[in-house]
Amino acid sequence: MCRRSSPLLPLLLALLGRPDPAPAEHCDLQPVTAEPPITLFYTTSTVLRGCVSNSSTLASHEVHVLSIQWSKTPVPMLNVSITPRDDDCTRPAALILQCTQCLASITLPCQNLLIHTDASLRPKVQGKELPKDAKGHLLEWVQRTYGGITSYSELKDPQRIHLQLGENSNSPQNCIPQKDFDATPHLEAEVLFREVKGCTSSSAQSAGAAHIVQLLHKPSLPITEVKLTLNCPRQQQNNQILLLQGPANLTWLLMLNNCSLQFLASGTYKILHFPMDPRKGELLPDTEQGLIAKAFEKNYSIIASYSVIPISPHITLNIHEREVPKKLPVGPTSSAPSPDDVSSSLLFTLSPWKCTDDTMEIVIARSNLEPIKDVVNITLRDISCQAEKNATHFMLHTLLSHCGTSLENHGHANNEFVLSLSKGSVLRSVRVAFQCPIPRELFLRLFPSAAFKAPQTELEVNKEVFVQASMHLEDYPADLQLKECYLMAPGMEPLLLVQGNKAQSSSVAMLEEPPSNRARKVWRFRFTYTVPEGRHVPFSATLKCKAGLQNNTIFEKVLEVKVKDVWRLPNNQGLGLSAVLGITFGAFLIGALLTAGLWYIYSHTRPISKLQPVSTTAPASESSSTNHSIGSTQSTPCSTSSMA
Ligand SMILES: *[C@@H]1O[C@H](CO)[C@@H](O)[C@H](O)[C@H]1NC(C)=O
Ligand SMILES: *[C@@H]1O[C@H](CO)[C@@H](O)[C@H](O)[C@H]1NC(C)=O
Ligand SMILES: *[C@@H]1O[C@H](CO)[C@@H](O)[C@H](O)[C@H]1NC(C)=O
Ligand SMILES: *[C@@H]1O[C@H](CO)[C@@H](O)[C@H](O)[C@H]1NC(C)=O
Ligand SMILES: *[C@@H]1O[C@H](CO)[C@@H](O)[C@H](O)[C@H]1NC(C)=O
Ligand SMILES: *[C@@H]1O[C@H](CO)[C@@H](O)[C@H](O)[C@H]1NC(C)=O
Ligand SMILES: *[C@@H]1O[C@H](CO)[C@@H](O)[C@H](O)[C@H]1NC(C)=O
Ligand SMILES: *[C@@H]1O[C@H](CO)[C@@H](O)[C@H](O)[C@H]1NC(C)=O
Repeated sequence: MCRRSSPLLPLLLALLGRPDPAPAEHCDLQPVTAEPPITLFYTTSTVLRGCVSNSSTLASHEVHVLSIQWSKTPVPMLNVSITPRDDDCTRPAALILQCTQCLASITLPCQNLLIHTDASLRPKVQGKELPKDAKGHLLEWVQRTYGGITSYSELKDPQRIHLQLGENSNSPQNCIPQKDFDATPHLEAEVLFREVKGCTSSSAQSAGAAHIVQLLHKPSLPITEVKLTLNCPRQQQNNQILLLQGPANLTWLLMLNNCSLQFLASGTYKILHFPMDPRKGELLPDTEQGLIAKAFEKNYSIIASYSVIPISPHITLNIHEREVPKKLPVGPTSSAPSPDDVSSSLLFTLSPWKCTDDTMEIVIARSNLEPIKDVVNITLRDISCQAEKNATHFMLHTLLSHCGTSLENHGHANNEFVLSLSKGSVLRSVRVAFQCPIPRELFLRLFPSAAFKAPQTELEVNKEVFVQASMHLEDYPADLQLKECYLMAPGMEPLLLVQGNKAQSSSVAMLEEPPSNRARKVWRFRFTYTVPEGRHVPFSATLKCKAGLQNNTIFEKVLEVKVKDVWRLPNNQGLGLSAVLGITFGAFLIGALLTAGLWYIYSHTRPISKLQPVSTTAPASESSSTNHSIGSTQSTPCSTSSMA
């Protein structure tokens, strides 16, 4: 239904409906000899044969031997990457890579790595030939040449090998290869699975094709999560199913790229890049015929691929474009994703919401909504809260106390999108619930009035401003307090405004907290910013507050504000006559006021306020700031005033 490509198309997947009675048919799996419809890679540390030993620890080199086999030609390129032990390359190492007719790339971290190989290396590096007499007796040759073997691994069809250098003195004395050897932790390989099988039901009813991946459980491997990346070439029709069978307590983490197919997974599964809790899958049979019967039961009569692999933490499955022979026209099925699914996947992917402790903002680009056809309006749960629209966006800005938002969920604001869709004259609506995370942080806002409406980012000199510090309160201690607020500006000493919920300057007055709201802690004060005479008014200032308990700071926030000064000339403007007159008059006025001020100070012995400049080093420590500021209050009044 969604024709154009969009980043969200991959998410359009549907889950299967109810099971039907199984048709009594079966088919015999045959190796797929021609081009298989899938490519499957998996990572593993289990090698065909392998061993480790401590025999190299006293020798000149640590020595790793890789012996590679291929089940088919032409062979793909082999990449070997090597990480040194502890990132140092002091211990000389040797790699013996037996890989006849193969093209290999070796990523070397260290210069002192010796390579013996019969492969062609790309890019060319200094590799020594593997002598002819080593061919049938590789281990003997290595033992003779180096006097020890650190590890030996035989692999089939690897694409990538990752080798971790390092010797272990606890390893056995001799390297005696064992079948299905677990080469953890020194080796991990990505292996190409080349034994894909397939078959078609004798009485093929439909053109549906099934891909089956079965994991062989190995009790010694404690793997509980399998990440499966599924890549599809393009948006294929919904006539394929993927069956994933593994141990019952396994979680499949599915990464879907461009794929729209049905799937059944055993155990639990979770689709990554999709905010969902793991979901319970289905109980699937663990036999070949059982799984095939399951696919038939779901009306997929072609087993396009059947792969049995050892349990692995990472699997990549590429489904190739392939014409599935159509025997019956595929009618519309229940599997097409419904508009509701599309809308919710889309909105979760976009996550267009952003919350503070007090507000919620939603901005959605219309172009992103393309896969949901014909969105007319968007509202929240309270449908009177309708998003504004312009040519390109839907936008909504609201308080958390409005629009039906609930805060019951820990640290989240919960609401719902209501999308109105119109198809011709038919209107319908889709509801998508969402959770907007509320940041655990302190928020600072400046307001022009005690109404605390419409925050501003400007601080005007000599004018009262209203400051609010607040945070969403979930599980914070009850005695959370506003520890301190400073105003700082370039070239000025930090000015302590508030400490321990108390005003610390005569220019500051604490205000009552607004009517109680259990979910939010709010502190308010008003404050007038004055700049001492003779000082330049800074262009910007920083309000810095900390909240927490008495003895430890939990939250700190910094708010940058522009400083507005009515006396300051507008930038980049020539001094017109009126400005010059203004300055002259202003200077006269300041002079007159200063004279008056000085006289006032002179005639009143101790008139200066408690407005304390605090030494720049003070904010960090309490003890030093108290001592220091007591001294400075006594000395500053006279010195400042006498300046003028
Ligand atoms: C192998 O390495 C080469 C060059 O380093 C790179 O171009 C190629 O994509 C790699 N192949 C795989 C399968 O990683
Ligand atoms: C190797 O391991 C054996 C026991 O398995 C031990 O006796 C021997 O000392 C070890 N050798 C070195 C060089 O650590
Ligand atoms: C996804 O499908 C589109 C066509 O629908 C194709 O152009 C694109 O290459 C595919 N992406 C991947 C990663 O396969
Ligand atoms: C998973 O289940 C298998 C048996 O089905 C059991 O042997 C294994 O211990 C379980 N693993 C975990 C991690 O629970
Ligand atoms: C399978 O096909 C049959 C007949 O075509 C139909 O009756 C049945 O409902 C289909 N089952 C499923 C699961 O779609
Ligand atoms: C959509 O919003 C417009 C106003 O912007 C209103 O007239 C119309 O009734 C709304 N439609 C729906 C389906 O809510
Ligand atoms: C619509 O509003 C958004 C968000 O405010 C804005 O970024 C965008 O430029 C606006 N588009 C038009 C065409 O005005
Ligand atoms: C901080 O003060 C609280 C009480 O206000 C007290 O319970 C806690 O132990 C103190 N923590 C430290 C590290 O002093």
